[in-house]
Amino acid sequence: MEIKKISENKKHFLDLLLLADEQESMIDKYLERGELFALYDDGLKSVCVVTQESDDICELKNIATYEKWHGHGYGSKLLRHIFAYYKDRYKTMLVGTGAVPKSLRFYQKNGFEISHRIKNFFTDNYDHPMFEDGVQLVDMVYLSKAL
Ligand SMILES: CC(C)(COP(=O)(O)OP(=O)(O)OC[C@H]1O[C@@H](n2cnc3c(N)ncnc32)[C@H](O)[C@@H]1OP(=O)(O)O)[C@@H](O)C(=O)NCCC(=O)NCCS
Repeated sequence: MEIKKISENKKHFLDLLLLADEQESMIDKYLERGELFALYDDGLKSVCVVTQESDDICELKNIATYEKWHGHGYGSKLLRHIFAYYKDRYKTMLVGTGAVPKSLRFYQKNGFEISHRIKNFFTDNYDHPMFEDGVQLVDMVYLSKAL
């Protein structure tokens, strides 16, 4: 298994990025300024993008694993890699997600704690209603982890 930091042709990974954030115009807001990591294990399995939000704070903007490979530990391995990669640069990592139990569980299992909520983030910022596990995404739930 190998995790690479990708600096060029980031749009090459759009198919994976769209699994976590289905509107390309929203991905365009963070992909260039963010740092992109790709996990390979006999081929590409997962990606994630991290941005700088202040001197002390970074934010995980996108993380996705190909559907066929969900539940094989790749997402958690990528998180462990970026925690180590950023621990000397930032104090805190944030992540925002829909109020969907499966997603919250994934982050909590990996050491994030619920921090705050941005009301109507998904309905205000996306051009169409979005659903996950049959639940409409409305508020953004922020979680944070001390690095
Ligand atoms: C969330 C995601 C990145 C996790 O990646 P992964 O490689 O499956 O991660 P791991 O195998 O390390 O962890 C699996 C855990 O993720 C959670 N999870 C969230 N969505 C899941 C899904 N669709 N399928 C399986 N597990 C999922 C479960 O809690 C699972 O824990 P469990 O094995 O104890 O049940 C992946 O499911 C994914 O790409 N989902 C679609 C994109 C997305 O929604 N990304 C943003 C999440 S807010």
